[in-house]
Amino acid sequence: MMKKDCLEIVRSKCESCKACALGATRNNIVFSDGNPSTAKIVLIGEAPGEMEDETGRPFVGRAGQLLNDFLKEAGISRDEDVYVINTVKCRPPKNRVPSDEEKASCRKFLNAQIDIINPRAIVLCGATALKSFVELDKKQTISKVRGQWMTINVDGKDYRAITIFHPSYLLRNHSLDEGSPRRLMKQDLANIKNEILADVDHSQDDNQVEYMNTSREIAMV
Ligand code: URA
Repeated sequence: MMKKDCLEIVRSKCESCKACALGATRNNIVFSDGNPSTAKIVLIGEAPGEMEDETGRPFVGRAGQLLNDFLKEAGISRDEDVYVINTVKCRPPKNRVPSDEEKASCRKFLNAQIDIINPRAIVLCGATALKSFVELDKKQTISKVRGQWMTINVDGKDYRAITIFHPSYLLRNHSLDEGSPRRLMKQDLANIKNEILADVDHSQDDNQVEYMNTSREIAMV
């Protein structure tokens, strides 16, 4: 089965989902953005905001525009290289951080998306995404963890992963000085481009889904 067809099945399940309270207040689910056929990276943000809820697309507000600028500068194509998703698919009221229960009820969709895309790397954008995959001890703040390659296991499969700052944080931090969050974001994206995208050959893109895994995921959804 093709990736995009599998994702459509998951999306349609997500569209009718009322597993948590966010299902009652959303205008639209915010499922994903990007090209599943060519994307080598899954980028995971926190949750949809107002603009995302209105349009049904992730990262289209101010934070999204800043993310686009950083990706572009790093030579990473948001349309071709990155499949963009969030830890939850519905907007939390007043843009609060999604609760553990909300994240848990949405997890099957997130895991299915990762499984279907089968990315070379997962980029955890901000603390909410990071904490959805990694248990942090008290000393491990996002500032310490960002930029480090690690291995995360999603439903029994290992993926390379790296954490970057969330663009909302960068909207509040304008400095470009050595060691500033914006400077570190540029370094991290350059590192990702170098490690993950340097040898991409789209004639080798594999659009088929690893069938066993995905059928299990979809059955669960
Ligand atoms: N912030 C996020 O984490 N995700 C979005 O889609 C938009 C803003």
